[in-house]
Amino acid sequence: MSKEKNRKRCIAVFVLMGMLITLISRSAFAGNAPQLLVETKNSLLVFSIGGNGKLYQSYFGQKPGHATDYALLQSTRHEAYIGAGMGDLFEPAIRVIHADGNPSLDLVYVSHKTEKKGDDLSLTSIRLKDPKYPVEVLLHFAAYFKDDVIKTWTEIRHQEKKPLTLSNYASSMLHFEASKYWLSQFDGDYMTEMRMKESQLTTGIKVLDSKLGTRAHMYRAPAFFLSFNKPSDENNGELIAGTLAWSGNFQCTFEIDQQNSLRVINGMNPYASEYKLPAGKTFETPAFIFTYSNKGKGQASRNLHRWARQYEVLDGDQPRLTLLNNWEATHMDFNENVLVELFEGAKQLGVDLFLLDDGWFGNKYPRDGDKTALGDWQVDKKKLPSGLGHLVKEAGNRNLKFGIWLEPEMISPKSELYEQHPDWILKLPNREESYSRNQLVLDLINPKVQDFVFNLLNDLLTENPDIAFIKWDCNRMLTNTYSPFLKENQGNLFIDYTKSLYQVMERLRKKYPHLPIMLCAGGGGRVDYGGLKYFSEFWPSDNTDGLERVFIQWGYLNFFPSLTVSSHVTSMGKQSLKFRTDVAMMGKLGYDIRVKNLSPDEIRFSNAAVQTYKRISEVIWFGDLYRLVSPYEENRAVLMYVNEARNKAVLFSYLLNFRRKEYMGKVLLSGLDPDKRYKIKEINLLPDAVSTHPDNGKSYTGDYLMKVGLNLSPGKISPLSSAVFELVME
Ligand code: GLA
Repeated sequence: MSKEKNRKRCIAVFVLMGMLITLISRSAFAGNAPQLLVETKNSLLVFSIGGNGKLYQSYFGQKPGHATDYALLQSTRHEAYIGAGMGDLFEPAIRVIHADGNPSLDLVYVSHKTEKKGDDLSLTSIRLKDPKYPVEVLLHFAAYFKDDVIKTWTEIRHQEKKPLTLSNYASSMLHFEASKYWLSQFDGDYMTEMRMKESQLTTGIKVLDSKLGTRAHMYRAPAFFLSFNKPSDENNGELIAGTLAWSGNFQCTFEIDQQNSLRVINGMNPYASEYKLPAGKTFETPAFIFTYSNKGKGQASRNLHRWARQYEVLDGDQPRLTLLNNWEATHMDFNENVLVELFEGAKQLGVDLFLLDDGWFGNKYPRDGDKTALGDWQVDKKKLPSGLGHLVKEAGNRNLKFGIWLEPEMISPKSELYEQHPDWILKLPNREESYSRNQLVLDLINPKVQDFVFNLLNDLLTENPDIAFIKWDCNRMLTNTYSPFLKENQGNLFIDYTKSLYQVMERLRKKYPHLPIMLCAGGGGRVDYGGLKYFSEFWPSDNTDGLERVFIQWGYLNFFPSLTVSSHVTSMGKQSLKFRTDVAMMGKLGYDIRVKNLSPDEIRFSNAAVQTYKRISEVIWFGDLYRLVSPYEENRAVLMYVNEARNKAVLFSYLLNFRRKEYMGKVLLSGLDPDKRYKIKEINLLPDAVSTHPDNGKSYTGDYLMKVGLNLSPGKISPLSSAVFELVME
């Protein structure tokens, strides 16, 4: 047979096979719709393929006990990932404008595959495509079985002749059908991060979003609880906890339609971000992460914590370093002698590391205030004539590791970098430069700027290989949103900025996979799981007042595990040192204080506190968190951590600003083994103090502690006081 005949025959066979497959799949659409299942231990997400070839979300919620019942979940009411411009008139998941100007997208099911990636993880990918335009969308669902967590994201690609314009691009679209919906959101401002507010959703749209660009989370975190039918509490109620893994502008949209169905769309914020996608390139959205619980918010948080420690946070299963930071102790006013004095202080505290904060760099324009030197990352020769190596050595002589502060994405108008590279800066043509904290943002989208940032860290770590920790700050949002590098594609700016940050972090992590780096953005301006893939912990707030921190840390602990929540003892706030220390111990303990201003007893207390923390930190970092009394409900906060073996627990009790004779009821503990006995010991006492707590030294069964509980505030109690208890199985 000639080559040509052979080729024709092959084509014919191929076409016939294609027709056959189409027929088989079409006939499969008749009657029972084929289903795709995304399963975790307790939750089930069901998709069905309708007779029209479209993908529908038929169910999400508690997993029925009998797999044979799954077939009953056939609803084709809610299209899974809705393209704008076709029949649906509510918020779309995706909106594109084709190269020919057609602003619609019709998505039909093409194929799917599910891969088992071990006992705990399975990955389902569903391919959808437009029958008329060469555009395809891939929906990905990573199901983490034991923790009931689903991570979902989307890929968009096309083969059109010109770039496709994307104006909506959800990471996920989910549909719910309940009688009522309750949303808990977490927002605030600089110094008041993560204030929890809960409200019932009503018909129409509620949007939680950020348009701040860099430091996007300052006013609001991309995280929420969504309860169904009635508000959930810690132990009761059906809900999801959701959070977007994205360090830039985000948008979470909750829309109730005329039939009381709720559509939840999460993703990057489309605000000012019409994205031009060239043919052949893949546009990948960040992941939306959610967990289902029918046992209240506590279970949802524990699911996220466990999952995050195992899968998402950099070295989430590894210990953290305790440290002394010098920001609140000295601000930028220090020299070598002062630092050496602080090293001595760190040694007295017994922490692992000294962290040198802002103010160590700049020569032509020294960093003595916040108007200069960002970008000029050379040691200030006047302040620190012997260089960083000397400091690292001096710290080492005191058995301390050394860490350093950087703000790599920023530039001061008064800097040598500004003089050398005015085109490396995000700023609008024909407009005045607009500053925040007297600084501008580098155009990180420019590969040369990415190299600059990579080299800054790489050179620093090459010259000082003993640097053991970085604090990566980002102290302003975007107001000059124009990238000289992007030219006519300014709509890509917000998205490409964050993607560029991740690219730099990828490069850094290849070379320095385990170096602990703290994610900081003027306090908690950037806290999310997109960042925590590269960062070992975050700075929750510049507000370190002990009372305020109870609320702020409480807020973050809803979504992020304790070993990521940097919690420092400082001199802010009027509470006792013991109170502030007990508060810092609920997260990742550190200090930011002038040790030489502490009394000998305070130093003794703090040193013992660090030792105690090191002894119990395994339970705090890797244990399960149980929030027992919320500071939003009473004038106190009580929480506990229980280790996996359930033979050790740590209980924190904080009395806040309560009124005279305010009654504090017994607290029911949680997470213990009901059949085992636990001995209770009050720890972290002041030097020479003995516990006066009536339960100190006593043993009770887990059952008793969880059903009858403990009176944590017996006798005369004072506001702003606290106690820490250790429970050890006998
Ligand atoms: C931000 C950080 C602080 C400190 C200063 C330094 O405000 O949140 O912890 O590092 O910057 O300028």
